[in-house]
Amino acid sequence: MGVGKGYGKTILFGEHFVVYGLPSIVSALGVYTTADVKVVKGKGWTVNDQRPATPGYKEQKHAEAMQSIANIINHLKVDTEYQRLEISFAGSLIAASGVGASAAQCTSFARALSETFNLDLDDEKINEAAYEGEKAYHGTPSGVDNTASTYGGLIWFVRNLSAGRNTMDLLHSPRKMLIVLADSGVTASTAEVVADVRRLKEENPERIEEIFGEYKKLAGAAREALLKGDIAIIGDLMNQNHKMLQQIKVSGEINDELVQVALRNGAIGAKLTGTGRGGLVVSLAENENIQEKISDAVKQKGYSAWRTTIG
Ligand code: MEV
Repeated sequence: MGVGKGYGKTILFGEHFVVYGLPSIVSALGVYTTADVKVVKGKGWTVNDQRPATPGYKEQKHAEAMQSIANIINHLKVDTEYQRLEISFAGSLIAASGVGASAAQCTSFARALSETFNLDLDDEKINEAAYEGEKAYHGTPSGVDNTASTYGGLIWFVRNLSAGRNTMDLLHSPRKMLIVLADSGVTASTAEVVADVRRLKEENPERIEEIFGEYKKLAGAAREALLKGDIAIIGDLMNQNHKMLQQIKVSGEINDELVQVALRNGAIGAKLTGTGRGGLVVSLAENENIQEKISDAVKQKGYSAWRTTIG
């Protein structure tokens, strides 16, 4: 038997843009998914998914989850002809769109297989295996989610579009950041939303390239602000990033509404995080009172909210 763990994440800057080789900034969360694997007689594998989740999430993602598990088993060449795997998932991460639930599941499972079969995989190999799993959810994943889930911390991530190594710089901010994650309760299909952005880019290449150019400057400024711990600038850049996400049509009405709730209640900045069209909104608070105020306001509207610290 072996166990493994994978962190949840929140993307502070650059979801979707990251798919096209533009930089993103992601933070792992302190909450995680755990996997355990038992080997018994028989063949094939079974899954007992006990992760806490937003209602409907596990049902909607079921087929993708099964495919991602199969991808990882195949990638790691684990035999399921002459033995049977009993796989269980649990943990403190509430599975929802936008929080890196799929990546956390893939990472935890790769780690559990490594331990069960003494594969001795280092983080790089775990990350590669988790990436194979993510393909079932994303189509063409950038790799940002599994990287955050595997390594933890605050990361500047740039996908290498020519199949070489991705860039991953661990950032150290002098200031801890208080955030609120507001969960719309709407489960989005990452593969579908990513495909829509690709279509939009094909239809309006010049306009999208223009937005990409603006975003690239924003990402550089965000990195500097994070390294200085300048939360006023970080918040402002989050707001600008949200507008760009609206322009590439990945923000749903519910995301815009939750962004407004956060801003009206004192957030320095707020944006959708992850896939969009539902899922989560991340907002930045100057102090704990404001963090609580934002979280209460989100809950009053009937949505879930989680408070945490990153950086
Ligand atoms: C989803 O968490 C992040 C996206 O940018 C997809 C990806 O990077 O693979 C939307």
